[in-house]
Amino acid sequence: MDQAKTKKSLNWAELGFQYRYTDYRFSATWRDGVWSEGELLTSRTISVHEGAPALHYAQQCFEGLKAQTAPDGRVLLFRPELNAERMRQAAGRLLIPEVPEELFLRGVEEAVRANYAWIPPHGSGASLYIRPMLIGVGENLGLKPAKEFEFRVFVSPVGPYYSESGLAVISLAVSDIDRAAPAGTGAYKVGANYAGGLLATREAQSHGANEALYLDSASHRFIDEAGSANILVAMDGNRLVTPSSAAVLPSVTRRSLMSIAEQELGLTIEHRSIELRKEIDQFLEVGACGTAAVLAPVGKILVDGQWHHFHDEGKSVGPVMQQLYDRLVSLQRGEREDAYGWTHEVVMGD
Ligand SMILES: Cc1ncc(COP(=O)(O)O)c(C=O)c1O
Repeated sequence: MDQAKTKKSLNWAELGFQYRYTDYRFSATWRDGVWSEGELLTSRTISVHEGAPALHYAQQCFEGLKAQTAPDGRVLLFRPELNAERMRQAAGRLLIPEVPEELFLRGVEEAVRANYAWIPPHGSGASLYIRPMLIGVGENLGLKPAKEFEFRVFVSPVGPYYSESGLAVISLAVSDIDRAAPAGTGAYKVGANYAGGLLATREAQSHGANEALYLDSASHRFIDEAGSANILVAMDGNRLVTPSSAAVLPSVTRRSLMSIAEQELGLTIEHRSIELRKEIDQFLEVGACGTAAVLAPVGKILVDGQWHHFHDEGKSVGPVMQQLYDRLVSLQRGEREDAYGWTHEVVMGD
Protein backbone atom coordinates (compact mmCIF):
# COMPACT_ATOMS: atom_id res chain seq x y z
CA MET A 1 0.00 0.00 0.00
CA ASP A 2 1.43 3.35 -1.00
CA GLN A 3 1.17 5.61 1.94
CA ALA A 4 0.13 9.16 1.14
CA LYS A 5 2.78 11.16 2.95
CA THR A 6 1.21 14.52 2.41
CA LYS A 7 -1.26 15.69 5.01
CA LYS A 8 -4.72 16.72 3.92
CA SER A 9 -5.24 20.45 3.97
CA LEU A 10 -7.92 20.54 6.62
CA ASN A 11 -8.47 23.29 9.11
CA TRP A 12 -7.43 20.93 11.91
CA ALA A 13 -8.10 23.38 14.72
CA GLU A 14 -11.71 23.78 13.61
CA LEU A 15 -12.64 20.10 13.56
CA GLY A 16 -15.56 19.00 15.71
CA PHE A 17 -16.37 15.49 16.83
CA GLN A 18 -17.98 14.19 13.63
CA TYR A 19 -17.48 11.36 11.19
CA ARG A 20 -15.25 12.44 8.36
CA TYR A 21 -14.55 10.13 5.46
CA THR A 22 -10.97 8.82 5.31
CA ASP A 23 -9.36 6.68 2.61
CA TYR A 24 -9.00 3.23 4.15
CA ARG A 25 -10.56 0.96 6.72
CA PHE A 26 -9.38 -2.44 7.97
CA SER A 27 -11.70 -5.43 7.77
CA ALA A 28 -11.40 -9.07 8.84
CA THR A 29 -14.17 -11.66 8.79
CA TRP A 30 -14.89 -14.68 10.96
CA ARG A 31 -16.31 -17.65 9.16
CA ASP A 32 -16.27 -21.39 9.95
CA GLY A 33 -14.44 -20.78 13.18
CA VAL A 34 -11.50 -18.73 11.91
CA TRP A 35 -10.59 -15.09 11.43
CA SER A 36 -9.37 -14.05 8.01
CA GLU A 37 -6.04 -12.25 7.75
CA GLY A 38 -7.82 -8.94 7.20
CA GLU A 39 -7.34 -6.29 4.53
CA LEU A 40 -7.66 -2.59 3.86
CA LEU A 41 -10.79 -1.49 2.01
CA THR A 42 -11.79 1.81 0.47
CA SER A 43 -15.59 1.51 0.72
CA ARG A 44 -17.15 3.20 3.71
CA THR A 45 -20.26 1.03 3.56
CA ILE A 46 -20.82 -2.49 4.84
CA SER A 47 -23.14 -4.82 3.01
CA VAL A 48 -24.74 -7.27 5.44
CA HIS A 49 -27.53 -9.81 5.32
CA GLU A 50 -30.96 -8.41 6.25
CA GLY A 51 -31.17 -11.04 8.98
CA ALA A 52 -27.84 -9.99 10.56
CA PRO A 53 -28.05 -10.36 14.37
CA ALA A 54 -26.16 -7.07 14.74
CA LEU A 55 -29.18 -5.32 13.23
CA HIS A 56 -31.96 -7.14 15.09
CA TYR A 57 -30.52 -8.25 18.39
CA ALA A 58 -27.65 -5.78 18.85
CA GLN A 59 -25.06 -8.53 18.69
CA GLN A 60 -22.26 -6.05 18.30
CA CYS A 61 -19.63 -4.25 20.32
CA PHE A 62 -17.15 -1.51 19.58
CA GLU A 63 -14.20 0.45 20.91
CA GLY A 64 -12.88 3.98 20.75
CA LEU A 65 -9.29 5.19 20.97
CA LYS A 66 -7.16 7.92 19.47
CA ALA A 67 -3.88 8.38 17.62
CA GLN A 68 -1.99 11.61 18.21
CA THR A 69 1.12 13.13 16.70
CA ALA A 70 4.06 13.78 19.04
CA PRO A 71 6.30 16.86 18.66
CA ASP A 72 8.91 14.70 16.89
CA GLY A 73 6.32 13.38 14.41
CA ARG A 74 5.81 9.95 15.96
CA VAL A 75 2.23 8.71 15.88
CA LEU A 76 1.10 7.47 19.28
CA LEU A 77 -1.78 5.31 20.47
CA PHE A 78 -2.68 5.31 24.15
CA ARG A 79 -2.85 1.90 25.87
CA PRO A 80 -4.50 0.14 22.91
CA GLU A 81 -4.03 -3.26 24.52
CA LEU A 82 -6.65 -2.23 27.10
CA ASN A 83 -9.14 -1.57 24.30
CA ALA A 84 -8.29 -4.97 22.84
CA GLU A 85 -8.90 -6.56 26.22
CA ARG A 86 -12.19 -4.71 26.72
CA MET A 87 -13.42 -5.79 23.30
CA ARG A 88 -12.60 -9.40 24.17
CA GLN A 89 -14.64 -9.04 27.36
CA ALA A 90 -17.62 -7.62 25.44
CA ALA A 91 -17.35 -10.37 22.84
CA GLY A 92 -17.44 -13.03 25.54
CA ARG A 93 -20.57 -11.45 27.06
CA LEU A 94 -22.39 -11.38 23.70
CA LEU A 95 -21.29 -14.80 22.39
CA ILE A 96 -19.15 -13.22 19.69
CA PRO A 97 -15.82 -14.85 18.81
CA GLU A 98 -13.00 -12.89 20.40
CA VAL A 99 -10.68 -10.77 18.28
CA PRO A 100 -7.17 -11.85 19.32
CA GLU A 101 -4.97 -8.99 20.56
CA GLU A 102 -2.64 -9.44 17.60
CA LEU A 103 -5.48 -8.95 15.11
CA PHE A 104 -6.95 -6.02 17.06
CA LEU A 105 -3.65 -4.15 17.22
CA ARG A 106 -2.74 -4.95 13.63
CA GLY A 107 -6.15 -3.74 12.43
CA VAL A 108 -5.81 -0.50 14.38
CA GLU A 109 -2.24 0.08 13.23
CA GLU A 110 -2.99 -0.67 9.58
CA ALA A 111 -5.97 1.68 9.57
CA VAL A 112 -3.90 4.45 11.15
CA ARG A 113 -0.90 3.91 8.89
CA ALA A 114 -2.96 3.82 5.71
CA ASN A 115 -4.67 7.07 6.66
CA TYR A 116 -1.49 8.92 7.56
CA ALA A 117 -2.65 11.93 5.57
CA TRP A 118 -5.60 12.33 7.93
CA ILE A 119 -3.70 12.24 11.21
CA PRO A 120 -3.84 15.73 12.68
CA PRO A 121 -0.41 17.33 13.23
CA HIS A 122 1.04 18.04 16.64
CA GLY A 123 -0.24 21.23 18.21
CA SER A 124 -3.49 21.31 16.27
CA GLY A 125 -5.53 20.12 19.26
CA ALA A 126 -7.10 17.49 17.02
CA SER A 127 -6.52 13.74 16.91
CA LEU A 128 -7.37 10.69 14.84
CA TYR A 129 -10.32 8.90 16.44
CA ILE A 130 -10.23 5.14 15.86
CA ARG A 131 -13.40 3.09 15.93
CA PRO A 132 -12.92 -0.70 16.01
CA MET A 133 -16.21 -2.56 15.75
CA LEU A 134 -17.26 -6.18 15.87
CA ILE A 135 -20.62 -7.15 14.42
CA GLY A 136 -22.66 -10.29 13.83
CA VAL A 137 -23.41 -10.22 10.10
CA GLY A 138 -24.44 -13.72 9.02
CA GLU A 139 -27.90 -14.78 7.88
CA ASN A 140 -30.23 -15.37 10.80
CA LEU A 141 -33.81 -15.06 12.01
CA GLY A 142 -34.21 -16.67 15.43
CA LEU A 143 -32.66 -15.28 18.59
CA LYS A 144 -29.27 -16.93 18.42
CA PRO A 145 -25.70 -15.85 17.75
CA ALA A 146 -24.60 -15.00 14.22
CA LYS A 147 -22.59 -17.49 12.24
CA GLU A 148 -20.40 -14.83 10.63
CA PHE A 149 -18.78 -11.71 12.06
CA GLU A 150 -16.88 -8.71 10.80
CA PHE A 151 -14.15 -6.90 12.68
CA ARG A 152 -13.73 -3.48 11.15
CA VAL A 153 -11.62 -0.46 12.09
CA PHE A 154 -12.31 2.95 10.64
CA VAL A 155 -10.77 6.27 11.58
CA SER A 156 -11.79 9.90 11.48
CA PRO A 157 -9.92 13.08 12.40
CA VAL A 158 -11.72 14.81 15.25
CA GLY A 159 -11.57 17.88 17.42
CA PRO A 160 -12.81 18.26 20.99
CA TYR A 161 -15.99 16.44 22.00
CA TYR A 162 -17.73 19.22 23.92
CA SER A 163 -16.43 22.52 22.58
CA GLU A 164 -14.05 24.28 20.23
CA SER A 165 -11.37 24.52 22.86
CA GLY A 166 -9.48 21.86 24.78
CA LEU A 167 -10.91 22.03 28.29
CA ALA A 168 -14.65 22.67 28.25
CA VAL A 169 -16.68 22.92 31.43
CA ILE A 170 -19.80 20.82 31.07
CA SER A 171 -22.97 20.19 33.01
CA LEU A 172 -24.80 16.94 33.79
CA ALA A 173 -28.43 16.18 34.61
CA VAL A 174 -29.34 13.14 36.68
CA SER A 175 -31.46 10.83 34.55
CA ASP A 176 -34.57 8.95 35.61
CA ILE A 177 -33.77 6.43 32.93
CA ASP A 178 -31.52 3.48 33.74
CA ARG A 179 -28.51 2.86 31.57
CA ALA A 180 -27.73 -0.66 32.68
CA ALA A 181 -28.98 -3.33 35.07
CA PRO A 182 -26.69 -4.53 37.88
CA ALA A 183 -25.94 -7.83 36.13
CA GLY A 184 -26.60 -6.49 32.63
CA THR A 185 -24.18 -5.18 30.03
CA GLY A 186 -23.18 -1.82 31.54
CA ALA A 187 -19.55 -2.82 31.98
CA TYR A 188 -19.21 -3.64 28.29
CA LYS A 189 -18.95 -1.35 25.30
CA VAL A 190 -21.95 -2.71 23.44
CA GLY A 191 -24.27 -0.73 21.20
CA ALA A 192 -27.39 -1.78 23.08
CA ASN A 193 -26.37 0.33 26.09
CA TYR A 194 -26.15 3.41 23.93
CA ALA A 195 -29.43 3.01 22.04
CA GLY A 196 -31.20 2.97 25.39
CA GLY A 197 -29.32 6.10 26.42
CA LEU A 198 -30.24 8.32 23.48
CA LEU A 199 -33.49 9.40 25.13
CA ALA A 200 -31.71 10.10 28.42
CA THR A 201 -29.22 12.33 26.61
CA ARG A 202 -32.00 14.19 24.84
CA GLU A 203 -33.81 14.76 28.12
CA ALA A 204 -30.62 15.96 29.81
CA GLN A 205 -30.05 18.38 26.94
CA SER A 206 -33.60 19.66 27.20
CA HIS A 207 -32.69 20.73 30.76
CA GLY A 208 -29.65 22.57 29.43
CA ALA A 209 -27.08 19.91 30.39
CA ASN A 210 -24.51 18.37 28.05
CA GLU A 211 -25.08 14.79 29.16
CA ALA A 212 -27.12 12.50 31.37
CA LEU A 213 -25.71 11.34 34.67
CA TYR A 214 -26.85 7.81 35.50
CA LEU A 215 -27.38 6.55 39.01
CA ASP A 216 -27.31 2.84 39.86
CA SER A 217 -30.47 1.23 38.58
CA ALA A 218 -31.14 -0.83 41.73
CA SER A 219 -31.52 2.08 44.19
CA HIS A 220 -31.04 5.32 42.21
CA ARG A 221 -28.75 6.55 44.96
CA PHE A 222 -25.21 5.91 43.79
CA ILE A 223 -23.38 7.50 40.86
CA ASP A 224 -22.72 5.16 37.96
CA GLU A 225 -21.43 7.28 35.09
CA ALA A 226 -22.27 9.82 32.42
CA GLY A 227 -23.54 8.94 28.95
CA SER A 228 -20.07 8.58 27.46
CA ALA A 229 -17.70 9.17 30.33
CA ASN A 230 -16.71 7.94 33.79
CA ILE A 231 -16.91 10.26 36.78
CA LEU A 232 -14.14 11.51 39.07
CA VAL A 233 -14.78 13.53 42.21
CA ALA A 234 -12.17 15.54 44.11
CA MET A 235 -12.93 15.77 47.82
CA ASP A 236 -11.35 17.23 50.92
CA GLY A 237 -8.22 15.62 52.25
CA ASN A 238 -6.62 15.38 48.78
CA ARG A 239 -8.93 12.58 47.82
CA LEU A 240 -9.96 11.57 44.34
CA VAL A 241 -12.99 9.31 44.33
CA THR A 242 -14.47 7.29 41.49
CA PRO A 243 -17.60 5.13 41.65
CA SER A 244 -17.20 1.40 42.00
CA SER A 245 -20.08 -0.22 40.16
CA ALA A 246 -20.46 -3.39 38.16
CA ALA A 247 -22.54 -1.44 35.62
CA VAL A 248 -19.90 1.14 34.65
CA LEU A 249 -17.65 0.93 31.62
CA PRO A 250 -14.04 0.44 32.81
CA SER A 251 -12.70 3.61 31.20
CA VAL A 252 -9.10 3.53 30.02
CA THR A 253 -8.89 7.28 30.62
CA ARG A 254 -10.21 7.01 34.17
CA ARG A 255 -7.86 4.19 35.09
CA SER A 256 -4.95 6.24 33.73
CA LEU A 257 -6.03 9.41 35.52
CA MET A 258 -6.32 7.57 38.83
CA SER A 259 -2.74 6.34 38.46
CA ILE A 260 -1.50 9.83 37.55
CA ALA A 261 -3.40 11.31 40.50
CA GLU A 262 -1.86 8.85 42.92
CA GLN A 263 1.68 8.69 41.55
CA GLU A 264 2.21 12.25 40.37
CA LEU A 265 -0.14 14.41 42.43
CA GLY A 266 0.05 12.36 45.63
CA LEU A 267 -3.74 12.14 45.92
CA THR A 268 -5.47 9.39 47.87
CA ILE A 269 -7.49 7.26 45.50
CA GLU A 270 -10.86 5.87 46.51
CA HIS A 271 -12.81 3.46 44.36
CA ARG A 272 -16.13 3.14 46.13
CA SER A 273 -19.87 3.77 45.92
CA ILE A 274 -20.67 7.50 45.89
CA GLU A 275 -24.09 8.31 47.28
CA LEU A 276 -24.97 11.38 45.23
CA ARG A 277 -27.55 13.23 47.32
CA LYS A 278 -25.73 12.51 50.58
CA GLU A 279 -22.26 13.47 49.38
CA ILE A 280 -22.75 16.13 46.74
CA ASP A 281 -22.14 18.98 49.18
CA GLN A 282 -18.67 17.59 49.77
CA PHE A 283 -17.74 17.53 46.08
CA LEU A 284 -14.95 20.05 45.47
CA GLU A 285 -14.50 19.27 41.80
CA VAL A 286 -16.14 16.83 39.42
CA GLY A 287 -14.75 15.57 36.13
CA ALA A 288 -16.14 13.45 33.30
CA CYS A 289 -13.47 11.46 31.49
CA GLY A 290 -13.16 9.31 28.42
CA THR A 291 -11.32 8.99 25.14
CA ALA A 292 -13.65 11.44 23.42
CA ALA A 293 -14.28 13.72 26.40
CA VAL A 294 -10.63 13.54 27.60
CA LEU A 295 -11.29 15.18 30.99
CA ALA A 296 -14.14 17.65 31.07
CA PRO A 297 -14.63 19.55 34.33
CA VAL A 298 -18.26 19.37 35.44
CA GLY A 299 -19.41 22.80 36.57
CA LYS A 300 -22.86 21.78 37.78
CA ILE A 301 -25.21 18.82 38.13
CA LEU A 302 -29.00 18.91 38.03
CA VAL A 303 -30.37 16.72 40.83
CA ASP A 304 -34.11 16.47 41.56
CA GLY A 305 -34.78 19.72 39.70
CA GLN A 306 -32.04 21.69 41.44
CA TRP A 307 -28.63 22.69 40.06
CA HIS A 308 -25.62 22.05 42.27
CA HIS A 309 -22.60 24.19 41.35
CA PHE A 310 -19.04 23.15 42.10
CA HIS A 311 -17.15 26.33 41.35
CA ASP A 312 -17.53 29.97 42.02
CA GLU A 313 -18.99 31.72 39.04
CA GLY A 314 -16.21 32.62 36.61
CA LYS A 315 -13.71 30.17 38.10
CA SER A 316 -14.43 27.37 35.74
CA VAL A 317 -11.75 24.71 36.12
CA GLY A 318 -10.57 23.52 39.50
CA PRO A 319 -6.87 22.85 40.19
CA VAL A 320 -7.19 19.06 40.44
CA MET A 321 -8.95 18.59 37.10
CA GLN A 322 -6.63 21.11 35.45
CA GLN A 323 -3.50 19.29 36.62
CA LEU A 324 -4.90 15.89 35.74
CA TYR A 325 -5.86 17.13 32.28
CA ASP A 326 -2.46 18.68 31.61
CA ARG A 327 -0.58 15.60 32.73
CA LEU A 328 -2.74 13.16 30.80
CA VAL A 329 -2.76 15.14 27.58
CA SER A 330 0.99 15.82 27.61
CA LEU A 331 1.57 12.07 27.95
CA GLN A 332 -0.86 11.15 25.19
CA ARG A 333 0.69 13.73 22.86
CA GLY A 334 4.21 12.55 23.57
CA GLU A 335 5.19 15.89 25.08
CA ARG A 336 6.81 14.35 28.12
CA GLU A 337 8.59 11.14 28.98
CA ASP A 338 6.23 8.19 29.35
CA ALA A 339 7.43 6.47 32.51
CA TYR A 340 4.31 4.28 32.50
CA GLY A 341 4.93 2.70 29.10
CA TRP A 342 1.39 3.63 28.05
CA THR A 343 2.06 5.15 24.65
CA HIS A 344 2.32 2.82 21.69
CA GLU A 345 4.02 4.07 18.56
CA VAL A 346 2.56 3.23 15.16
CA VAL A 347 5.67 2.96 13.02
CA MET A 348 4.89 4.55 9.68
CA GLY A 349 7.42 2.79 7.47
CA ASP A 350 9.17 4.38 4.49
C1 LIG B 1 -20.35 4.84 28.72
C2 LIG B 1 -18.92 5.21 28.65
N1 LIG B 1 -18.26 5.38 29.80
C3 LIG B 1 -16.96 5.72 29.81
C4 LIG B 1 -16.25 5.90 28.63
C5 LIG B 1 -14.82 6.27 28.69
O1 LIG B 1 -14.00 5.15 28.40
P1 LIG B 1 -12.56 5.33 27.78
O2 LIG B 1 -11.79 6.19 28.71
O3 LIG B 1 -12.00 3.95 27.71
O4 LIG B 1 -12.75 5.96 26.45
C6 LIG B 1 -16.91 5.72 27.41
C7 LIG B 1 -16.21 5.86 26.13
O5 LIG B 1 -15.57 6.77 25.77
C8 LIG B 1 -18.27 5.39 27.42
O6 LIG B 1 -18.93 5.24 26.27
